[in-house]
Amino acid sequence: MNKKFDIEDLNSIRSDGYFKDFSHIKIGNKVQYLFLPRSVSDLALIFDFASKNKLPLFPIGGGSNVLLGNAKKRVLLMDYKLPKTFDVNSDEVVVSANFNLNSLINILKKNSLGGLEFLVTIPAHIGGLLKMNAGAFGKNISEYLKWIEVLNKKGEIEIIPKDKIEFSYRKSSIKDYILKAAFKFERKLEEEIDSQIKKFKKIRKDSQPINFPNLGCVFKNPKGESAGKLIDECGLKGEKIGDAEISEKHANFIINKGNASFEDVTNLIKLIQRKVYAKTGIELELEITVLN
Ligand code: EPU
Repeated sequence: MNKKFDIEDLNSIRSDGYFKDFSHIKIGNKVQYLFLPRSVSDLALIFDFASKNKLPLFPIGGGSNVLLGNAKKRVLLMDYKLPKTFDVNSDEVVVSANFNLNSLINILKKNSLGGLEFLVTIPAHIGGLLKMNAGAFGKNISEYLKWIEVLNKKGEIEIIPKDKIEFSYRKSSIKDYILKAAFKFERKLEEEIDSQIKKFKKIRKDSQPINFPNLGCVFKNPKGESAGKLIDECGLKGEKIGDAEISEKHANFIINKGNASFEDVTNLIKLIQRKVYAKTGIELELEITVLN
């Protein structure tokens, strides 16, 4: 007979802490089913647990662009404790999906490999960046991709070449759990890479509130427009609800000035959408993931 709740098998990889301790914007209450698997077999157990108990499963990588509400009946999966791997062969690199982007950029630099500097300072893991085809300055991470290794719905490990994946602005067709990714980078001098890193860090520091807990850009850019500019033109910079504030530096960022709650941020999101729609007729679409 199927046990309904086989949670005791999973307690060693489960956290019942506060999501705020995991989230980059430092928001989130106690979670019920947040799992930190250490291996592919742990992953399989978690998928099984979610499916047997009919709970929706959300792999959220490092959790940096996720705003979490208070619902309990769901399974969250973070990748911090999975093995972290990096293999380089000439200009080809295979890296585990849980690798932190900024660590990867630095390791690549030491290997005289460049390419991802345009993304520097984004506090995210490689799997999540691929899934949303993260980009900046007109470039996207998928440009460097060769293939991904996934754990598919049948529980099998499968290689998916890039030409079988559709990528568009902040979107990919990837549905399976990404384990690894292979990239082809550019051979460059270490000093050249270093100066690119410094250049992009400065641009971000000057134009984005990277020193406050945040979720990255909250909205996608509508075609031909900048969401930040549209919000700014509505006079919303500095607008606050509770401790959540529309950044004075870049209006597409909401920052946590202390003890912001899920509701503070979602109310600010609704306010922005309402004002921008009233002024321009444009419906701003979320870039971040909001899980009520
Ligand atoms: N602008 C304003 N007010 C603001 C913000 C921007 O007037 O509050 C103006 C700027 O002066 C500029 C234009 O809007 O003329 C575009 O701004 P920016 O260069 O900052 O680019 P963006 O379109 O707002 C996009 C990405 C960012 C990425 C930057 C840099 C999206 C949603 N945003 O922002 O990505 O860092 O370009 O390339 O695609 C993210 O994905 O989390 C993110 C922040």
